[in-house]
Amino acid sequence: MHHGTCPNYLTLALHQPKRHVMTNGTLSILHADAAGIAAAVDLLRAGKRVAFPTETVYGLGADASNDTAVAGIYAAKGRPSFNPLIVHLPDLEMARTLCDFNDDALRLASAFWPGALTLVLPLKPRVGISKLVTAGLDTLAIRVPDHPVAEALLTAFGGPIAAPSANPSGRVSPTTAAHVMAGLGDRIEGLVDAGPCGVGLESTIISCVDAPALLRAGGIPAEAIAACLSQPLAISADPATPVAPGQLASHYAPSATIRLNAQIAEPDEVMLGFGAVDARLNLSPSGDLTEAAARLFDYLHQLDAMGAARIAVSPIPNHGLGAAINDRLQRAAAPRD
Ligand code: TXA
Ligand code: MG
Repeated sequence: MHHGTCPNYLTLALHQPKRHVMTNGTLSILHADAAGIAAAVDLLRAGKRVAFPTETVYGLGADASNDTAVAGIYAAKGRPSFNPLIVHLPDLEMARTLCDFNDDALRLASAFWPGALTLVLPLKPRVGISKLVTAGLDTLAIRVPDHPVAEALLTAFGGPIAAPSANPSGRVSPTTAAHVMAGLGDRIEGLVDAGPCGVGLESTIISCVDAPALLRAGGIPAEAIAACLSQPLAISADPATPVAPGQLASHYAPSATIRLNAQIAEPDEVMLGFGAVDARLNLSPSGDLTEAAARLFDYLHQLDAMGAARIAVSPIPNHGLGAAINDRLQRAAAPRD
């Protein structure tokens, strides 16, 4: 391992883990520094799986041009292979080599990249993206993340990195390296630890294949996206008829059962609050939706770790980031197999 000069992301990284450790001979936990990034790139080039931080949630990355590496993502997550993956890129320039951008797509990319926006666009032919990434579709989901460590990794790797959220399929997305360790620690080769994710919810997904359409509410409010477009944003609000393949009703599930829009916890319930309520954990006592989004998945993980069997959740206003928070809570509360 070599040590180069310190680039900006060193000072920008939210948190530095204290050690570089090898766990059970296979997983390298890497610092969010130049040496850690270099080691992560080596693993990716060798077709290995590396979990890394983004501003939304931790992603489980692999070389998007390597079929075997991408198959390894599905294997680690236990994900149905018909569910396509988001490809992460260092910049719009590389994105334009992979996908066709219409005016709306260019407008959105210019306004929100780097950031928590994924665009689904027509995939150009013969650009080397593994068919396993798109699950055979002729469209590709792409985004440029707004996180110094993700940006450093993507720039150093110099190519597209396919990355779903770094959790076992159907479980709550990880917003810390500890969440990744708990869910996938024995199934991946690398993990870059840069502390908690700032946004805490997955990216907003917009299809610009035809008229712009919201496929998944997320870290950028739909209102902000609609305001940027030249035509109305079509919204698929019904979780029973998902338009993003794999947006199954029961998803993001903790082990506990969840009751939504609760004013007060029943005796056998643990309260997950929002606003001025009495609660074991409170997403935001002051009623701030951005703070609530950043805490949501961590608190669901914490309630799981406490062994809570039943969780009651305060009502969350349905505007701005509240729409994405409610989407995730409804999926967490949905009946499952
Ligand atoms: O914030 C995020 O988006 C995180 C971080 C790691 O970037 N990633 C993430 O990926 O949430 P994942 O795999 O958990 O969710 C990807 C979603 C799925 O619902 C999938 O169906 C949809 O994107 N998707 C991917 N490709 C698509 C396509 N070509 N058309 C429609 N939906 C697509
Ligand atoms: Mg996910």
